[in-house]
Amino acid sequence: MRVGVTPQSRVMRPAASGFSVSQEAGRLQVITMYALVTVLSALLLVMILRRLKRKRVCLDPKRLDGKTVLITGGTSGIGKETAIALAKRGARVIITNEDEEKGDTALRQIKRESVSMNVKIMKLNMANLQSIREFCKDFVQKEKRLDILINNAGVPAVLDWTDNGFSMCFGVNHLGTFLLTSLLTERLKSCSPSRVITVTSEVHKYQRLDFADLNYNIVPLFSYCRSKLANVYFTQELARQIERHGVTSCAVHPGYVVGDWTSKFSVLFRIVMYVISSMFFISCLEGAQSVIHCAVSDDILQHNGGYFSDCKPCKLRPHAQDTGIAKKLWEVSEIMVGLSSSRREIESICTR
Ligand SMILES: NC(=O)c1ccc[n+]([C@@H]2O[C@H](COP(=O)([O-])OP(=O)(O)OC[C@H]3O[C@@H](n4cnc5c(N)ncnc54)[C@H](OP(=O)(O)O)[C@@H]3O)[C@@H](O)[C@H]2O)c1
Repeated sequence: MRVGVTPQSRVMRPAASGFSVSQEAGRLQVITMYALVTVLSALLLVMILRRLKRKRVCLDPKRLDGKTVLITGGTSGIGKETAIALAKRGARVIITNEDEEKGDTALRQIKRESVSMNVKIMKLNMANLQSIREFCKDFVQKEKRLDILINNAGVPAVLDWTDNGFSMCFGVNHLGTFLLTSLLTERLKSCSPSRVITVTSEVHKYQRLDFADLNYNIVPLFSYCRSKLANVYFTQELARQIERHGVTSCAVHPGYVVGDWTSKFSVLFRIVMYVISSMFFISCLEGAQSVIHCAVSDDILQHNGGYFSDCKPCKLRPHAQDTGIAKKLWEVSEIMVGLSSSRREIESICTR
């Protein structure tokens, strides 16, 4: 004989904990809600504290009339906002593009928002050493001044290879930056006091370089962190080499910025990043502030080779200040990009 179970008897049946099933479910719901509210409040608090802590505006009013600024990859994100700000301050601004259509749209926007016609765009693919050589040759032939070089172009954490067979992160973010700066050094020296600002990232501190595998290309984030650590070493060694010529070099962490960089990833990743970034990340304009600060402020003159974030100099971890590694990376990079032969040609144009 089947014993009928009424809805009431189901509700009242005691659970192992001594509570009825419905009471147990209710308790669980309340606990989950409390946990959720606690986590969200903690996230909100962290967000507010981070926002309050950041000094995100470059307060230096200095103008840049008569100065020429080259910003690699100023077609989107931090680079584009930096271009608008520096053009507003009277500088001649040159941005670079890979994609013609994206470049033209960005150029129009920069001119419109800065109300300056002294903005120009030049073609450059940082994933191709020949393109960098041609760009630099073209640049020194056409431009007689280079007062501020902003090494902004960079790829996010992706696993890919450049046209010359280097890992994309190391190849574009470090080797491309290294070759371009080295080929433009004569122009920077002849326009001294001049400066080189390299956009790195705080995440550089989570990795170390492995000289046996500089083209490390396994975990995308690690590959990116290493390339940004290479930017830090590059900045220090560059400062050491060109200080006596009146050129100052510094590295900048712009903050974690909402930008176009997620467009290189899947839709799912973009949705997740959208949620995270709208809570924790800053805008491109806010991200550009530390770069603008380093471009205009005399603050950086006392911190040649330094690392800036939130418009102020910051301390590096001991491993990121190793001058021996910085020198070694420079020497290895010279060989990897075949610097000596490319440099001779550019230098002969500069001295003409
Ligand atoms: N966003 C952040 O949270 C963050 C944090 C720390 C550091 N950074 C650094 O800040 C810099 C700017 O980042 P962002 O957020 O503004 O990113 P973004 O909007 O993606 O801008 C990157 C720029 O670099 C250019 N670029 C990429 N690959 C290139 C190549 N092979 N040749 C020439 N140009 C190339 C892009 O041009 P195309 O679109 O035409 O390729 C674009 O103009 C990067 O160096 C990045 O590593 C960003």
